[in-house]
Formats: sequence, C-alpha cells, structure tokens
Amino acid sequence: MSFHQWQTGTVVYPLLTSVLYDETEWEQPHSFHPAHFLDKDGKFVQRDAFMPFSAGRRACLGESLAKMELFIFFTTLLQQFRFTPPPGVSEDELDLSPRVGFTRNPAPHTLCAVPCV
Ligand code: HEM
Repeated sequence: MSFHQWQTGTVVYPLLTSVLYDETEWEQPHSFHPAHFLDKDGKFVQRDAFMPFSAGRRACLGESLAKMELFIFFTTLLQQFRFTPPPGVSEDELDLSPRVGFTRNPAPHTLCAVPCV
C-alpha cells in the first residue's frame, strides 16, 4: 500500500471484544469458563463466536501456527507439572481480572509448579 493510499483510504480497526464478550453468545462472557467449549459429555465444541484471530480477508495469517504452539506449550507444561496457588492461598482467592491497556493481559501470579512423578 502506497503512502497516497494510506492518506485517502479508510483504516478499519475491528474490535473483537464485541463478539468475544457478547452476552447473547456466551453463558459467562466475563469469566474463565472452559465449559463454554465442552458439550454435556465433556467433548470439545467449536463456537462460531470464538474468533480471537478475527475473520475475513485480513484474518490472522499465523492462526494455525499460533494454535499449534499454544497447544504444545500448555500440554507439555500440564503433562509435567501440577499448578497450584501458593501455600495459604485458595483458588477462589486468585484474581483473574485482566490488566487493561491497549490489550487485556493476564496479571502476574505467584504459583507452585509441582513436578508430576
Ligand atoms: C495467539 C496468537 C495470535 C493471535 C490471537 C492473533 C490475532 C490476530 C488478529 C486479531 C489479527 C488482525 C486481523 C484483522 O485485521 O482482522 C492478526 C493479524 C495478523 N497476524 Fe496474528 N495472531 C496471533 C499470532 C500470530 C502469529 C504466530 C503470526 C505469524 C507467525 C501472526 C501473523 C499475523 C499477520 C501476518 C497478520 C496480518 C494479516 C493481514 O493483515 O492480512 N499472528 N492476528
């Protein structure tokens, strides 16, 4: 795209929060709720409203790479460790609210990673 096109074209910023927090699509749009993606038998369910990689012609080119990397990263950790809050802290006391900036990021947490034997 040339500089001229930038000046005269229309820049569009899709806000995916409108669909990712849509109260008509999600049972608990503001909670970490893995059951959003499970049927009554505990099997994975694809949800049309789950589109963190956007949609259409400008959708993320790295979607399949990112999904593969995240799967390998988290399954490797979960196969090797059991994660718990630090001693004296219950799971209910963990603050899962995001840190809001241009994007929403997880807050830092202190956790125990106990190796599985
Ligand atoms: C969890 C990880 C990732 C998320 C959630 C994500 C999400 C997104 C989103 C929302 C867009 C904008 C789509 C739009 O404008 O409608 C985008 C664009 C893009 N992403 Fe990703 N992305 C991720 C990882 C990656 C990786 C690993 C790569 C490459 C190795 C990548 C390459 C790109 C490229 C090249 C675009 C621009 C596509 C275009 O404008 O035509 N992304 N991504």
